[in-house]
Amino acid sequence: MKKKLIVANHKMNLDAKKVSVYIKLMQTRANYSNVLVCPTSVYLPFFLKQEYKVGLQNIYFGNSGSFTGEISAEQAKSVGASAVIVGHSERREHFNESDDLINKKIKSAIENDLNVILCIGEKINNKKKMKLIEEQIIKALFKVPKLEKVIIAYEPVWAIGSNKTPTNREIGETIFFIKDLLENKYGYHDFPVLYGGSVNKGNISTLEKIPGVNGYLIGGASLKDEFFDIVEYINNNNEVTNNNY
Ligand code: PGA
Repeated sequence: MKKKLIVANHKMNLDAKKVSVYIKLMQTRANYSNVLVCPTSVYLPFFLKQEYKVGLQNIYFGNSGSFTGEISAEQAKSVGASAVIVGHSERREHFNESDDLINKKIKSAIENDLNVILCIGEKINNKKKMKLIEEQIIKALFKVPKLEKVIIAYEPVWAIGSNKTPTNREIGETIFFIKDLLENKYGYHDFPVLYGGSVNKGNISTLEKIPGVNGYLIGGASLKDEFFDIVEYINNNNEVTNNNY
C-alpha cells in the first residue's frame, strides 16, 4: 500500500550533537516507510543506520573524478541512499543551477537507480507562473528515461521558509496543471506531485484538504519534534496514493 511521501529536507542545519538527539527522537517514534530523510551529507552514515529511507539534497552528474567537494549519484547509491533532491530553489538561486544542469543530474541519478525529487516553483505568484512551471518541468525532464523514478515537488519559492502558503485552491490548481502536463506530454496518468513551502504542524490539517497532493517536502518543521506529529497526522488521515517510490 502506498502512502503519501513525506520528505524531510534538513538543508545545512544541525551540528553532530543535535543530529544525535534527532536520531534518538526518531527511534522513539514509529518507523514510517513513507518518510525520506535528507540530512546534510556529512551526517548520512548516522541516518543510514536507521530504518527510514535516506536521500541526498544534491548530487553532481559525473560518476567519479576530479570534482573536489562534489558527491556523485553512484557514490550516494553505494552507501545505501535511495533518492536525491534535484533543482531545489536554493540551489538554483545561490549556486546558479540551470535547467540544463538539473537535467544532467536527474539523468545521472536515474542511471544509478536513485529516485529523484525534482523541485520546481515560481518566485512570484502571478499570471506567468504556470508557463514558468511548464518550462522548468519540460527542460528538467528532457529525454529523461524511466519517469517513474521521478516525483515532482511543487514549491513556490516565496512560500519557502516564510510562513506563508498559497491558498488551497491555488495549490490544487497548480498541482492539477502539473499532472495534466505530465499526462498530455508524457502519457503518465496521475503523476505524483508533492507540495513544499512552510508546511508545519499548524497548517497540515488545512493542506490535507487539497485533492491530488501525493505528499510533502518539509524544511524548517522537519528539524523539530513537530515533524513526527505531522507524519502521524498525514498517515492517520490518508488513503492510498501514488507516490512513485
Ligand atoms: P520550508 O522549506 O518547509 O522551511 O518552507 C521547504 C523546502 O525548502 O524544501
